[in-house]
Amino acid sequence: MNQPVMTGVAALNVPAYIKHQKLIDWVAEVAALTRPARIYWCDGSQEEYDRLCAEMVAAGTMKKLNQDLRPNSYLACSDPTDVARVEDRTFICSKTKEEAGPTNNWMAPAEMRTTLNGLFDGCMAGRTLYVVPFSMGPLGSPIAHIGVELSDSPYVAVNMRIMTRMGKAVYDVLGADGDFVPAIHTVGAPLAEGQQDVAWPCNATKYIVHFPETREIWSYGSGYGGNALLGKKCFALRIASNMGFQEAQSGQGAGWLAEHMLILGVESPEGKKHYVAAAFPSACGKTNFAMLIPPKSFNGWKVTTIGDDIAWIKPGADGRLYAINPEAGYFGVAPGTNTKTNSNCMACLGENTIFTNVALTDEGDVWWEGLTKEAPAHLIDWQGKDWTPASGTKAAHPNARFTVAATQNPVIDSAWDDPAGVPISAFIFGGRRSTTVPLVTEARNWVEGVYMAATMGSETTAAAAGQMGVVRRDPFAMLPFIGYNMSDYFQHWLNLGQKIGAANAPKIYCVNWFRTDAEGKFVWPGFGDNMRVLKWMLERIEGTASGVENVFGLTPEFKDLNWDGLDFTPEQFQQITSIDKAAWNEELKLHAELFEKLAYHLPQELVATKAEIEKRLAN
Ligand code: OXD
Ligand code: MN
Repeated sequence: MNQPVMTGVAALNVPAYIKHQKLIDWVAEVAALTRPARIYWCDGSQEEYDRLCAEMVAAGTMKKLNQDLRPNSYLACSDPTDVARVEDRTFICSKTKEEAGPTNNWMAPAEMRTTLNGLFDGCMAGRTLYVVPFSMGPLGSPIAHIGVELSDSPYVAVNMRIMTRMGKAVYDVLGADGDFVPAIHTVGAPLAEGQQDVAWPCNATKYIVHFPETREIWSYGSGYGGNALLGKKCFALRIASNMGFQEAQSGQGAGWLAEHMLILGVESPEGKKHYVAAAFPSACGKTNFAMLIPPKSFNGWKVTTIGDDIAWIKPGADGRLYAINPEAGYFGVAPGTNTKTNSNCMACLGENTIFTNVALTDEGDVWWEGLTKEAPAHLIDWQGKDWTPASGTKAAHPNARFTVAATQNPVIDSAWDDPAGVPISAFIFGGRRSTTVPLVTEARNWVEGVYMAATMGSETTAAAAGQMGVVRRDPFAMLPFIGYNMSDYFQHWLNLGQKIGAANAPKIYCVNWFRTDAEGKFVWPGFGDNMRVLKWMLERIEGTASGVENVFGLTPEFKDLNWDGLDFTPEQFQQITSIDKAAWNEELKLHAELFEKLAYHLPQELVATKAEIEKRLAN
């Protein structure tokens, strides 16, 4: 141990292997402000994980599931007011409002600091401050970055061990003066002397705050998901997107991209392999697509997973774009997941999993809507109440989640941990749209692809608090995650495309799996059958498939897709690929509304692309 330093409340007790004085000073400073009862430095070991989980079981935060049915797995149920990301409480506190842009909440940094200093004053009283060191990306990868989260939630500590490369080895990479992103998290529920804790402490007041200039994250009041596991949305998307942009701005090269994208590998029976990265808004089946099981008729085709949610992408020495998954686990939506929709995912969840807000069976296992056709006769629902199929409520919260290590994925790609990343051949952008947007469209060039991504719309889901099912513009599926001005982000994409050049640029596709018929039923079977679209894309990349040009780009005709093993008629195909001019005229009005909102720094190329689409639509 280094010399114990008193913070006024708890001794620092810095482990001897930590040599980074700036980090030690920062922990002391945060402890002096938040005044925890204890400070604990996480080492990331299995023994530590098991111990923290056992402590949470004793405290009532988690239940241990039946060891025979679901070995080494737990169920945590949150406070009913703390179940999703809180976008309206999320702030990008750049120096100026323009730098955060019109899609982000902003407050002047000094004003926000005053607010936070007040809220964080003594906020960890009676609790343990966990020091959680983590790497986003393979340790030591030139694309990876390090963060340290200080949290008063043991639930956060154990989830971070699954979701990131967390533990002692991070300090070896940091050394005495390595860079790290400082992230401070509190549930905002200080305990008075002798006060009994609750199972899921949190606070009605919530702040999820990013200071891009100093690359700091401060999170107050929530213990749930992206609000609290700060490596994910806060660091790997909001702070990292800003870092990649700043690198280009400061003239240190082309910069890089932090994207809300899964990355998958797809290999043909002849052994031709490509990697594609796909952006979809939250809860639109990203995990299913990342672990796609090709239909039986696609004998010999293989899909493998690099990541299911986030991609960090940089130009490589050969001019192509290389991507890593900065995460080490999946924090996926449980409802709807079953052996039919995603048997690979179900295989991941067999053991060593933390479930949050799903229901508990009488056998001590988990259940959620869609897991089985018939619900069990009796359950304990996510709010701890007795539940039967007659209850008329959901047994699992619609945003119930599982946290599981990527290494449990039976179709993990052999390069998933490669520090160099994998070369990207295509970007796919998809929203949840019951009308208007066709099954698949290929952009004719990079600018047209950026336009498609920039104007993407999607029906909202339960992943964020707020109204469900309304269409909102969600550029690049990054609306809740962009860490700077959205128009500057569009420009950054355009610049990057220009820097790598057309020969190196991945193709760009826009997809929509969610078109419905007159009865509101999905027309496209989705899931494994998305392979049919993926195969066409690969053949386009290889130059062996055709398509026809339309107003927006290039689309396959019925004959261009492989229909083996699926009864899907040309009429149904027409239903999901048709372009309704009236609907598109309305859609373009919404693009205009978006562009008006984003007028400051909006790239002229996008305005010009819109004008060309309008001209073609009018013909
Ligand atoms: C997620 C989300 O949890 O996008 O991945 O909300
Ligand atoms: Mn996501």
